[in-house]
Amino acid sequence: MRERILDFLKQKDDYISGDYISQRLGISRQALWKHIQELKEMGYDIVAVPHLGYRLNAVADRLFAFEVRSGLATEIIGRTIVYLDRIGSTMDAALRLGLENAPEGTLVIAESQTTGRGRLGRQWLSPKYKGIYFSLILRPRMMPAQASLLTLLAAVSICDSLKEFLGIEALIKWPNDIYIANRKVAGILTELNAEMDRVNFAVIGVGMNVNNDADSVPAGAVALKEITGEWINRVGLLQVLCRAMERDYLLFREGAGIDLILRRWRQASFTLGRRVKVHCQNQVIEGEALDIDADGGLLIREDAGVTRKVMAGDVSVQR
Ligand code: BTN
Repeated sequence: MRERILDFLKQKDDYISGDYISQRLGISRQALWKHIQELKEMGYDIVAVPHLGYRLNAVADRLFAFEVRSGLATEIIGRTIVYLDRIGSTMDAALRLGLENAPEGTLVIAESQTTGRGRLGRQWLSPKYKGIYFSLILRPRMMPAQASLLTLLAAVSICDSLKEFLGIEALIKWPNDIYIANRKVAGILTELNAEMDRVNFAVIGVGMNVNNDADSVPAGAVALKEITGEWINRVGLLQVLCRAMERDYLLFREGAGIDLILRRWRQASFTLGRRVKVHCQNQVIEGEALDIDADGGLLIREDAGVTRKVMAGDVSVQR
């Protein structure tokens, strides 16, 4: 009912009479008033003036499932949305839901995380109502060794959506960091539930610094608000990202589309062609980042001329 009331309020830039809404929805004025109070508590700025009715001044700055779904028009991604005000990590919630057979495309969105995690055991700072933090369940038919491709896919989708929604050119640092002007704005963490020869399901976690204050992003990172100088509509950005991920995931599932994703990844990469140092397992590999291969591995030509492939690690790009 609350969503239907909001639809009425969103349709008009002006006051709309309480009588009109309650008649159209078949509820009493008192019931309407109660729903309006709940909406206000949820963060919607609604004013009530006797004889004029209700007016929506501003929507809530929340990633409510019904707001994200409204007008989303995707078939897979976001078809089911779990919205949480606060959680340890959306990764754990999504991994649990995946085991319980949650459908492909299920999104677990949180407004804040107390133990948000990044790659290599790092922490992902997740202050409330500031960033976008979600985990997406996918059920691709693929070998575990190809899972890196999902990370590359998400990186391409993030860059495309930042361009589309904000006109910002972002770059990718292999394998999972999104940079703007040399500072990290988003990260991707892919975790799998898999057998030796098949992936049961994958969880792609995305963390993005959006409206964070400068003191709630770690050193070397940046929030989109600092780049654009304006508050950013997180729902709008998340919707554009869901559509981009769906488009790229459909390409990926077709198989033939993988080349296109890799091509776009190469275009947005600031790793390729540069001198890199990669800490992986117990060794450090240093040389020129030549390319990524069909599994998403990074090919590095060492100074001795030998080309090595790295599937995971911590990369620093030398200036
Ligand atoms: C990285 O840069 O190392 C990856 C960061 C991924 C962070 C996101 S936030 C949503 C999801 N939940 C988590 O605990 N981590 C991912």
